[in-house]
Order: sequence, then C-alpha cells, then structure tokens
Amino acid sequence: MKRLLSYMEKYKYRLLFAVLLSIAGNLLALVGPMLSGKAVDVIAAGKGAVDFARIWYYAAWMIVFYVLSSVLSYVLSLIMLHTAQNLAGRMRQEVFDRLLSLPVGYFDRNQAGDIISRVSYDVDVIQASVTNDFVQVIAGFVTVVGSFGMMFYISPWLTLVVLLMIPVSVFYTRYMAGKTRPMFRKRSAKAGELNGMVEELITGQKTIQAYAREGKMTERFDGKNEEAVQAYYNAEYYGSLIGPTVNFINNCSLTVVTVAGSILYLFGRISLAPEYAFFQKMALSLGAISSFVLYSRKFSGPINELANIVSEIQSALSASERVFRVIEEPAEAEDVYGAVELTDVAGKVEMEHVEFSYVENKPILKDWSMKAEPGELVAIVGPTGAGKTTVINLLMRFYDPVSGKILVDGKENREVTRKSLRASYAMVLQETWVFEGTVHENIAYGKENATREEVIEAAKAAGIHGFVKRLPMGYDTVITEDGVNLSKGQKQLLTIARAMLSDARMLILDEATSNVDTRTELRIRTAMQKLMEGKTSFVIAHRLSTIQNADRILVVNNGKIEESGTHEELMKKQGFYYQLYASQFQ
Ligand SMILES: Nc1ncnc2c1ncn2[C@@H]1O[C@H](COP(=O)(O)OP(=O)(O)OP(=O)(O)O)[C@@H](O)[C@H]1O
Ligand SMILES: [Mg+2]
Repeated sequence: MKRLLSYMEKYKYRLLFAVLLSIAGNLLALVGPMLSGKAVDVIAAGKGAVDFARIWYYAAWMIVFYVLSSVLSYVLSLIMLHTAQNLAGRMRQEVFDRLLSLPVGYFDRNQAGDIISRVSYDVDVIQASVTNDFVQVIAGFVTVVGSFGMMFYISPWLTLVVLLMIPVSVFYTRYMAGKTRPMFRKRSAKAGELNGMVEELITGQKTIQAYAREGKMTERFDGKNEEAVQAYYNAEYYGSLIGPTVNFINNCSLTVVTVAGSILYLFGRISLAPEYAFFQKMALSLGAISSFVLYSRKFSGPINELANIVSEIQSALSASERVFRVIEEPAEAEDVYGAVELTDVAGKVEMEHVEFSYVENKPILKDWSMKAEPGELVAIVGPTGAGKTTVINLLMRFYDPVSGKILVDGKENREVTRKSLRASYAMVLQETWVFEGTVHENIAYGKENATREEVIEAAKAAGIHGFVKRLPMGYDTVITEDGVNLSKGQKQLLTIARAMLSDARMLILDEATSNVDTRTELRIRTAMQKLMEGKTSFVIAHRLSTIQNADRILVVNNGKIEESGTHEELMKKQGFYYQLYASQFQ
C-alpha cells in the first residue's frame, strides 16, 4: 500500500484536486433530500391547496444542486481515468525497462507466462482499482459522514434507530466476506489451472495428436473443468447472497424507521400533557421524515459497498506486489568502478581455473582453463549437459564465475564494461531469435546502420540470399506479419547472416549448424571459414565433421576438460574424442 501510494506521489496535486472535487460533489448531492423534505412540508401545510410556486422553487434548487454535483463527478471521473491510465502506462514502461536490465538468470528462474501477466493483467487490475476505488472510498466517506450529520440534525432519535441496524449488516457482510474470500481464491486458482491446460494443449498439440492422447486430454480437462464449475458456482452463489440479504436488512431498518417516524410525527399532531413535553420535542414534520428516509438510504449505500471495495483493494494490492517485485528486482550489477571500455580488441581469450555453479553447491564447471590466441578456432565438444553453453554464458558475462578469471586481451572480464565486452563478440545461439520486422532489419540487427549491400553480402555468405529473393517483398518482407514463417533452418541461417554482419573480433557459435541439411551445412562451413578468418572463434558442435580443422578441440564431460588438442592429436590418442568420432563415422 505504502509503495503504491509513494508511486502515486507524482500525481499528488491532481489527486488532491480530485479529492476536493469528490468532497464538493458529494456535499452538493446531500442538499437534495433536504430540499425535497421542504417541498413535502409545503404540500402537507397546504391542506388541499398546494403552493406550487414554493414547490417549483425547491424543485429548481434541487435541479441546480444535482446538476452541479453531476458536473463535478464527471470532471472527477475524467481526472481519475486520465491519472490511472497514465499511471498504468508508466508502470508498464518501468516493468519493461527493468526486464531489459535484469540479468539473464532472472529469466532462467521465472516463467515467461508469469512475467507477461505482470506487465499486462496485474497492471490492469491496479489501474481499474485506482480509477474506481479511490473515488468510491472518498465519495463513500463523504456520503456516510454527511448523511449521518444530516440525519442527526433532523432527528437524533430516529438516527439511533438506523444505527442499531448498522452492526447487523456490517457483521453480516464481514462474515460473508470472510466465508467467500477463500472461495474466490479457489476460483482464481481453478481458472489458472484451466489456462494452464489450454496452454499445454496449444504448445503440445502436435505431440498430443502424434501419441493419440486427445481422449486422455479431454478426460483430464473434464475433471478440471468440473472442479472449476463447482468453484465458480460456490463463489458466485455465496457472493450473490450478500447483496439481497444486506438489502433485506436495510429494508427492515427502513420498516422500523417508518414506524418510529410515524410515532414521532404523531407527537407533533396531538397535544400532550406538559409532563410529556419531552416527547413533543422529538416530533417531526412529514417533510423531515421524508428527508430522513432519503438520507438513511444514502447512508447505507456505501456501507453495503464496503465489502466489495475492500476485496477489490486487496486484489489491487496483491497485483501491485507482483508488479513491484519486478520493478524492484535488483538489476544486473553495475560495472565495477573504473571499468574501462574494451576497444581495439585483438581477440586473445583466456579462462583460468574457473569454477561455476548456477545453484549453490552444484558445481557445473570445475577448474576450467583454456586459452585462445587471436584468430584461433576453438571447438568445444562433449555430451549433452556437459556445460558447453555454460562456458558461453561466462564468456559473455551473462553469469559471473564463482572463482577463477576470464581475460580478454589480458584484461580481466570484470574490469571492462559489460557493454563493450559483449559488443566484441558476435554470436549465434542455440535458440534462434527473429523478431517482427523485415528480413533486412533482422539481419542488420548485428550492425547499426548497415547498408542494403552489406546485408545482401551477409545473406549471400550465409546462403539465404536466393531464398530471400524469392520472398514476396524480398528483403522488405516482414517476418511473421506477412505470414512468412521461416523454417528452423532458415531462421538459423538468418541469425548466421546477422553474425556475419557484426565486425566483432570474436565469434561464438553454439550448435549453429544443427538445423540445416548436409548440403547447406557444407555451404555454411565454407561461409563460416570466411567469417572466422582473423576472428577468435568458439564453436560448439555435436557433428564433429564441422570442427575437424579447429586449432584446438576441447572435449568436455561433466564440466571438466577431459582432453584437448587438434583433431589429429586426439585421434592418435584414441581417447574420449576418438570414441565420439568413431561412433559418428563408423
Ligand atoms: N539456468 C540454469 N540454472 C541451473 N542449471 C542450469 C542452467 N542452465 C544449465 N544448467 C545445468 O548446467 C549443466 C550444463 O548445461 P549446459 O547448457 O551448459 O549444457 P550443454 O553442454 O550446452 O548441453 P547441450 O549440448 O544439450 O546444449 C546441465 O546439467 C544443466 O542442467
Ligand atoms: Mg548447449
């Protein structure tokens, strides 16, 4: 709550103005019942002949006050709508910006769907609550206090009657709110489970069909759906009981007020003995009673709403907790003080006795040392899960080692700015990534302001120029929007072209050629050789044919370098590499 309020501080003058408007608007609306009562008194005093001039007079004033009050509420809702949208926009921006600056590890730990729902759903919940609840709380407060004051002014005794009924409805709503809250929570949980199943269906559709598991899926969904229906029903059923019951309690109160009011009216019509003058003082006019009834209705309105508002505010608070969790998530650590820009990179890379673990006490890399001279090609091979991608993560400083050093051109990784370090690598990752934009934009991502000629050259080198030319708009074809769905291999070639364009001195290729056919692979290998010329390159490959000409091959197993050397040396040694090679080629 505090955090949310301090977030709203930027709008404090606007909100203050909104509070004043709300108070004024609701106070103006409080005049109506009083005037209406006065009009009733005019009718009652007329005894058959009604003084219409007076009635018109009161009616006109009522209109004036109600119009003024409506105009103020209108302006108020405009202000709140504007403020809340502004706040939501700012929040979304901040969450997004924060996501950009978070370390890679955050995304490894958190589910994509959950992060997405924080940017969209949770921000919406907050926005809706700020728009409605803020106004409602103030309006409710003013109305309750104002109506109470007016009722008390008209008749303290009758007010007492109304007050007697309040605890009944407050306790009832509180009891019911307590009873239904777990039901609403359960409803959300069940809704979440249903969403989860739909997601499962969408992502796994082909697998489900391939294994003919449609029946099983339907069965599972049926079960979950039934539970959801029950949970929805329970929540809605008990939720819908509250309104009518509270209404009933209020109507009881109105009945009591009616009876008590008529008695008080009677006191004014009969003459009582002097010792009962006390009762005479309590007497009310018809108009006073009618005003009182209108005020009592106004008074109970916000109190009935209380349960709703409280639960809405609660859901807004839990939503803001989820949003602020992201905004306050520590960003990737700042570069160390005095970090220098890595410029004119020659491309010498060393790792010295590096130890690393993602999770404490579960070492992934153990005493890892390697060295690459400028322009060398280092290949990393080994079984799946051995730690190959992890090495890349460390080179790029997506993670920092627990101990040991990583040096580029003799400068320690941590002593240079992350930005310049990362800019000195071009890379093609295991997961390809293309974004919604033209083919040109997607390739030019590797180099700002790349010309069309450069892009075409890179595409030619990667072997996709022919394919791109055949697209409806060539290099200006928008990927995804035009329904152009690239195949996995084409996407990979595109990312290779992107890397080709970058003039970084060092290159990282993680399984870059695993998705292309053998003929394309051959083409890429030639292109790669051109690309790697003069660059320090780290290539991870499962297919050993691609890395036979490497200057050094590191054979990794369980986070340790088991063997290293050239292809010939390792073959001669007849060790782990030899076995790997033999299993692929014999
Ligand atoms: N973000 C992470 N958090 C925790 N553990 C991880 C994380 N990423 C990888 N690991 C673990 O680290 C080990 C090495 O993973 P890595 O991705 O480096 O393997 P790899 O050699 O690249 O395998 P592959 O050939 O299948 O790509 C694995 O046991 C994996 O479970
Ligand atoms: Mg990997």
